[in-house]
Amino acid sequence: MKILALETSCDDTSAAVVEDGRRLLANVVSSQEATHRRFGGVVPELASRRHLENLVPVLREALRRAGLQADQLDAVAVTHGPGLVGALLVGVSAGKALAYGLGLPLVAVHHLVGHIYANFLAHPDLSPPLLCLVVSGGHTSLLLLEDHLRLRVLGATRDDAAGEAFDKVARVLGLGYPGGPAVERLASLGDARAVSFPRAWLEEDSLDFSFSGLKSAVINYLHNCRQRGEEPAPAEVAAGFQAALVEVLAVKTARAAALTGVRKVALAGGVAANGALRRAVEERLGGATRLYYPPPELCTDNAAMVACAGYYLLRAGKVAGWDLNAVPDLSLS
Ligand code: KG4
Ligand code: ZN
Repeated sequence: MKILALETSCDDTSAAVVEDGRRLLANVVSSQEATHRRFGGVVPELASRRHLENLVPVLREALRRAGLQADQLDAVAVTHGPGLVGALLVGVSAGKALAYGLGLPLVAVHHLVGHIYANFLAHPDLSPPLLCLVVSGGHTSLLLLEDHLRLRVLGATRDDAAGEAFDKVARVLGLGYPGGPAVERLASLGDARAVSFPRAWLEEDSLDFSFSGLKSAVINYLHNCRQRGEEPAPAEVAAGFQAALVEVLAVKTARAAALTGVRKVALAGGVAANGALRRAVEERLGGATRLYYPPPELCTDNAAMVACAGYYLLRAGKVAGWDLNAVPDLSLS
């Protein structure tokens, strides 16, 4: 069963081919970083235009790397939400056209489910139940995957997503977009104890998150330093910010693991590429619980994860209709 998948929900144009849900034959990602960098964030209209230009070359390259002709495919999977509506529409329209033209079943994949399934692609021995911390530019959620495709939301952010906080702090530190990797690199040069930023624990036992206060604390700290005529030390600020954010994520993930009794935890989404987060979660979980995460290229947006999730949807008989549309605020239920 060879599935071709497309992913265009934000600023990466990606096509991939995966065999039987677990064997990666090709994963091509065309980043639009250069387009959006000078604006300090993703410009939706530009993202849609770039997807239109990039999709066919990316798709051809994925088939070439997989060594396949289009008529050797068995199904087409596509991300239909959540994300930027114009960006999603490019992938959804192309996916529908391809599936219809080739006479193949079409499968619609939720972007966050895709992020989680990157773990099944990276770890062929992995099976549910699985506790998942999904941390991306748009989402921060603790989810319990009770069985394949059966998700329960345990907690979510009440304001900013973890990746969004990384991107905003990067911007005020003058590090550009996307900010996560740059903040991580800078933080590795600083002492995390030099500047202490607040941790928002919320109500006792809450598995929700809040990062907007942390972001404001960083902005205020920089502002106050400059008002006093002092130049803040960027590496210390990056390290202090990352330590605060990572500690809250790690403590709440370990709490969710204890509450559910699930012995397998997976990180997913762009921020799962962060080494400090991986180490902190591993430390908090202790030896009895195993931690999984995808390699960095499968943490950030990619179509391989969509193909993997698509395989399980197809196996469950969940085929999309030709009226499939982009759903920018698609929920998990
Ligand atoms: O999953 P993703 O590619 O796109 C969304 O679905 O949002 O995640 C992108 C986010 C960005 O906010 C980026 O700054 C963050 O992931 N990110 C990181 C790292 N690599 C990417 N954040 C922290 N540390 C990293 N190494
Ligand atoms: Zn994503």
